[in-house]
Amino acid sequence: VIDLATLEDRAAETLHPHALDYYRGGSGDESALADNVAAWTALRLRPHVLRDVSSVSTATTVLATPVRAPVLVAPTAYHLLAHPDGESGTARGAAEAGSVMVLSTFTTQPVEDVARAGDGAPLWFQLYVNKDRGWTAELVARVRAAGCTALVLTVDLPVLGLRLRDERNGFALPPGLARVHVPPASAYDDDLGASPGSALRAHVNRDVDASMTEDVIGWLADVGGLPVVVKGVLRGDDAVRCVEAGAAALVVSNHGGRQLDGAVATARALPEVVDAVDGRVEVYVDGGVRGGSDVVRALALGARAVLVGRPVVYGLAAGGWAGVRDVLDAYAEDTARALALCGAASVDDVTADLLAREP
Ligand code: GLV
Repeated sequence: VIDLATLEDRAAETLHPHALDYYRGGSGDESALADNVAAWTALRLRPHVLRDVSSVSTATTVLATPVRAPVLVAPTAYHLLAHPDGESGTARGAAEAGSVMVLSTFTTQPVEDVARAGDGAPLWFQLYVNKDRGWTAELVARVRAAGCTALVLTVDLPVLGLRLRDERNGFALPPGLARVHVPPASAYDDDLGASPGSALRAHVNRDVDASMTEDVIGWLADVGGLPVVVKGVLRGDDAVRCVEAGAAALVVSNHGGRQLDGAVATARALPEVVDAVDGRVEVYVDGGVRGGSDVVRALALGARAVLVGRPVVYGLAAGGWAGVRDVLDAYAEDTARALALCGAASVDDVTADLLAREP
């Protein structure tokens, strides 16, 4: 069963306090982080009764890839910081649960190893576009050769949000851990010397291309030959720009409340994006999805699937690859339970009128 509070407590016992702060924290006053959760809760469900739910299926597809449930693994960084199984463990857990893992550019294990651990399960790659476009093009070729079948382009991080926990504790990767898919000079935090505050911020602000516009979507689709999923969209007008520039899907996201302090909650941004996209591409959502009822709420608002980040990291920290599998299994089971209790035998039976109109 999903008991995320207990899981987080168990993860907290094993994680270094700085790592826990990094995963748990948000930017600024962390209001966007809190709002993400609260906005789902505020949406009340109007369940159907007296419908045949003796057999419920959570199965669906994302970009034509079958998944056991509409719950994908959001990209998160530094899995070796959470557990020695690292990103490979997350890939194995996701594979065993029938999900799709999105591997972060800030992975601490090479994409080839992670793909091998997933043993043929679908793997997508989250991309930060480096100022060195040649480097980015080579990385994209490499992840495609490793078997990744989609690129997830993060667009809400032209600069790093101000994460006060990381600034206070001087968050940096410990010796021996590195970002294996960034240019060598940026792989280790210690090459910045004694820069105060968060080493991640220093690196990101130096390396990430803050000049990119929607043209990057077509460029990436050309050089990569893979569908480009654009992650970090919160407005209808931006959604339209992305679709017109060639996006294959969108993720409504505020980066788990880790970027713009005060950003709108994703549950509130989702309807505007779904409306603007008008069925042209699939829309996914992340941020504060903490159980099956939230998954149903997201589907009722028009999302095709959700992504979960922190709970997967906590599962990894607490139990390695099996912990990841257990978290994803629990989301799938809780989604089945919520569907049954809503009188929906499948995800296709979820309709907008399952949600109460907000006062
Ligand atoms: C990296 O993407 C982070 O949000 O820390």
